Order: sequence, then C-alpha cells, then structure tokens
Amino acid sequence: MIKRPHLLDTVRRSLRRSRVVALVGPRQCGKTTLAREFVAPASANYFDLEDPVSLARLSEPMMALAGLRGVVVIDEVQRRPELFPVLRVLADRRPLPARFLVLGERVARTYATVVGVSGGSA
Ligand SMILES: Nc1ncnc2c1ncn2[C@@H]1O[C@H](COP(=O)(O)OP(=O)(O)OP(=O)(O)O)[C@@H](O)[C@H]1O
Ligand SMILES: [Mg+2]
Repeated sequence: MIKRPHLLDTVRRSLRRSRVVALVGPRQCGKTTLAREFVAPASANYFDLEDPVSLARLSEPMMALAGLRGVVVIDEVQRRPELFPVLRVLADRRPLPARFLVLGERVARTYATVVGVSGGSA
C-alpha cells in the first residue's frame, strides 16, 4: 500500500472547513481506499451506490441520512446526482451533526469542495 499522507491530510482539512467534500478522480485511482481511512465500510455511515443494500437504505435519503453523526461516506455518488440538494439541506443544519465525503468520477462544484485524486503516490 502506497502511503498518501499529503492527500489524507488535505481531505482531513477539507472536512474541517467544508460540510460536503468530494473526492473526484478517474476509475481505480484510489478514491474508495482513501475514504475508508475515514469511515469503515461496515459502518452505518458508509454508503456505496453500486451496492444494492446501500441503494435500498437510501430509498428515502432524507430519512436515512438525517440521523447520522460524524463523517458520512457516499461512494459512486454520480449514480444519484439528485442526492446533492438533500446533502445541501443536511449540511445547512446548525449545529452540524454530520459532514459528507462523497466519491465519484465527476461532481458538480456548486455542491461540494472538490479534492482531486489521481493515480500514483501524490
Ligand atoms: N494508496 C494505495 N496504494 C496502493 N494501492 C492502492 C492505493 N489506493 C488504492 N490502491 C489499489 O488500487 C485499486 C483501486 O483502488 P480504489 O478501489 O480505492 O479506487 P477507486 O478510485 O475507488 O476506483 P473506482 O473508480 O473503480 O471505484 C485497488 O486495487 C486498490 O487496492
Ligand atoms: Mg471506488
């Protein structure tokens, strides 16, 4: 496993500053591996939109996400772009119970602070 301490630190700082952070990059560049440093895949705070179980859990996104605390990961978010307005509403809560780390090949910059991930050990 190649260590990516700089990237890890960038994501950590972005999550402190921003309520919705997006890891964006081409397939197989290491987005999922990086996100799992923050949230374990078995956690209730972890969703993978290529996993039917996660999709089922998100059938009512507001209900599914509103009660979560801490960092919430949503992988392959480009499959459900309609989630972004929901994330915006959830991210506007005061006090803020949860921040969102979303992963995808593309993400609209209006909805998230984008951290680019590329291959290699950057
Ligand atoms: N830091 C790393 N060092 C070495 N190998 C890595 C590292 N990060 C990821 N990999 C390996 O690269 C492959 C792709 O990683 P990962 O699934 O995290 O990428 P991804 O960007 O989420 O891909 P996809 O877009 O297909 O979901 C995996 O086999 C993984 O084990
Ligand atoms: Mg992935």
